[in-house]
Amino acid sequence: MWKNIEAAPADAILGLTEAFKSDSNTNKVNLGVGVYKDENGTTPVLSCIKKAENMLLEEQITKGYLPISGNAEYGAAVQELLFGSGSEVITSNRASTIHSPGGTGGLRVGADLVKKFKPTATLWVSSPTWANHKGIFTAAGFEINDYPYYDSTTKGVNFDGMIGALNSVPEGDVVLLHVCCHNPTGADLNDDQWDDIIESAKANKWLPFLDFAYQGFGDSVEQDRRAVEKFASAGIDFLVASSFSKNLALYNERVGALTVVSPTEKEAKVAMSHIKKIIRVNYSNPPAHGGLSAKIVLTDSALKELWLDELAQMRDRIKKMRKALVNGLIERNVDQDFSYIIDQRGMFSFSGLSDDAVNDLKENKSIYIVKGGRINVAGLTSRNIHYVCDSIADTLNN
Ligand code: LMR
Repeated sequence: MWKNIEAAPADAILGLTEAFKSDSNTNKVNLGVGVYKDENGTTPVLSCIKKAENMLLEEQITKGYLPISGNAEYGAAVQELLFGSGSEVITSNRASTIHSPGGTGGLRVGADLVKKFKPTATLWVSSPTWANHKGIFTAAGFEINDYPYYDSTTKGVNFDGMIGALNSVPEGDVVLLHVCCHNPTGADLNDDQWDDIIESAKANKWLPFLDFAYQGFGDSVEQDRRAVEKFASAGIDFLVASSFSKNLALYNERVGALTVVSPTEKEAKVAMSHIKKIIRVNYSNPPAHGGLSAKIVLTDSALKELWLDELAQMRDRIKKMRKALVNGLIERNVDQDFSYIIDQRGMFSFSGLSDDAVNDLKENKSIYIVKGGRINVAGLTSRNIHYVCDSIADTLNN
């Protein structure tokens, strides 16, 4: 069957991890995939999760199937995190949430849902965007267009370009927006800009699809969700794919969610009925362990407090490494100004390194960076930072 079929190219991000694993250089550093590392270079299980898992093992009396949409308390906890407790969206029951296998699963279920009822809609994504966005929506059958986002001169958002493009998105199309910690650029929108975007969605009648994978990695879980709250207050239809891969470090448990917000409870119920149909023919119902562990953390006040503290530690360490990287490059007299890396938000730094430099660092220094120059700052530690700065300086100065 495969005799005349060519092999597919490796994944732009996860393919780097495969190459990294087979690299025998003991100095190798993986700054590709967005996975948090602590100072020892490991990706720890958070203490709040360890405790929740122990509780779960004690309490659990069955491995029976979860509902198609996942555990109901998990869904409620996700909504509280997205909208804030007591939010009108929650009290009016006009949001439907399902436990998806990671944020990717949430995006794909949402993509299938929208495709089913808007078969001719085009999806609009930021330029640039997460390497997998186009793949997910293409697989669901979407045509894809870009809207301007990053300005490589100012290293910030090209908001005039962005809003101009959004104002001409045809009615009924879908626009994918990163709520915070934009992947890959780390350049985020401010409150006024979000207001303009919501006005554009209302006036031009395009459907917002929010990708919210990094809640808590910008400023705090509350600050980072401000755009979601604004969309909720606008009373329009929108979708949110969210993830606990990063903020609860549950990467391999595949714990995410898709939330569909509608103007009325009746519509939210209709949406949920169709989401369940889509899930049933894909993976039937979600795996339990990670979602139930997350639910315990989010609903137990002591564990939630512990989580927020652990999340703050991750956030602060990343900010520290941003400064260390910039200072390390200044100390090594690199010509380029990298100070903007300090202001970028979330796990990633859109480093400005050319693809040639990225390739050189991989081939000659065993430092793995995503094509386009995205560095996972959360992969830097005080142990590898000197080697990384030496190598970047070497690459740029030669
Ligand atoms: C990333 O952007 O590195 C992460 O979201 C992991 C992934 O699945 O690509």
